[in-house]
Amino acid sequence: MTKVALFDSKNYDLPGFEKYAPEKDIEIKYFEAKLCEDTAELAKGFDCVCVFVNDELDAATVEKLYSYGIRLIALRCAGFNNIDTRAAYKKIHIVRVPAYSPQAVAEHAMAMLLTSVRRIHKAYNRTRDFNFSLSGFTGFELKDKTVGVIGTGKIGMQFIEICRGFKMNVIAYDPFPNNKNGINYVSLDELFTSSDIISLHCPLTAETEKIINENSISKMKKGVIILNTSRGALINSAALIDGIKDKKIGAACLDVYEEESDIFFEDKSGHIMLDDNLARLLSMPNVLVTSHQAFLTEEALDSIACTTVNNINSFFKNGKCENEICYHCEKLGKCTKEREEKCF
Ligand code: NAI
Repeated sequence: MTKVALFDSKNYDLPGFEKYAPEKDIEIKYFEAKLCEDTAELAKGFDCVCVFVNDELDAATVEKLYSYGIRLIALRCAGFNNIDTRAAYKKIHIVRVPAYSPQAVAEHAMAMLLTSVRRIHKAYNRTRDFNFSLSGFTGFELKDKTVGVIGTGKIGMQFIEICRGFKMNVIAYDPFPNNKNGINYVSLDELFTSSDIISLHCPLTAETEKIINENSISKMKKGVIILNTSRGALINSAALIDGIKDKKIGAACLDVYEEESDIFFEDKSGHIMLDDNLARLLSMPNVLVTSHQAFLTEEALDSIACTTVNNINSFFKNGKCENEICYHCEKLGKCTKEREEKCF
């Protein structure tokens, strides 16, 4: 029996994990607490921790987990910027779910874009109040608009396919271009200057952190729409707010926010919002915020649970480590994976 401590548990996590874990002899204890240095002690007596996007596995947390005998960190998401992979190297193996439903995130990005340009969020509230006025609802059509996609991996490609269905003109930037799909790759500067809509689908790395900043915004078209369903810290929120106030940015659709970790996924409706930037963004009629919801489909949750359970089973039962990542995979882009397909 492999004992797993699953952190930051939500009720929607349970059906999938309870479906797949028993058949692999995996016992899961669900903790609502996020994993961080202060809560790491909860992992004592377990073999593995299962974590999500806002658990904080910095060096101190990793060290504690190691001292408690944790052998595996199983991410139930794709991004791993919340783990100090260098601290974990040669101590605790890390596995992730590299893809669960790129379609879920891409469809959510398009849903936000359509909502924003056709003012659906405003119309929904207005008609519920028996106000059937159309004042202020003039939108624009997506056909023939230029959409700049930053990052053409699994999600970026799905988003491009959807945009092509809308007959949009797609341009893209990616340091590792996917030349098989007839994508018109341009430089980052050209993407900034030519796009009517910019959608972020790259991971959060040292190169991409705050890729949307005062300087890049200054190059953009007046009225540009920014979509971020990737990671909050890709955008400098203060610069975004200034851009919207200056009317340079026409709208922003944000499924992620740079300081989301203590806010998103929780009911904060009875609290005073202490994050001034988020409060300001939420006060703007042309800003749409969802709380890291893009992945949340039945199909994606089932796929996440299935892959996570298989990752854990593979590591503890077969000594293999499919979907493993490490410091070398992340920073150097190459890892020998010599030992039974493990990173170390
Ligand atoms: P992927 O690994 O398939 O694709 C990422 C792409 O970004 C790759 O083609 C890579 O070459 C490119 N890239 C790397 N550095 C770049 C740079 N400096 N500039 C531009 N492109 C760069 O990843 P996938 O599955 O498409 O996911 C993308 C991101 O979406 C993840 O990193 C994650 O942060 C986010 N995500 C958000 C979810 C949500 O619920 N909002 C759910 C799942 C993922």
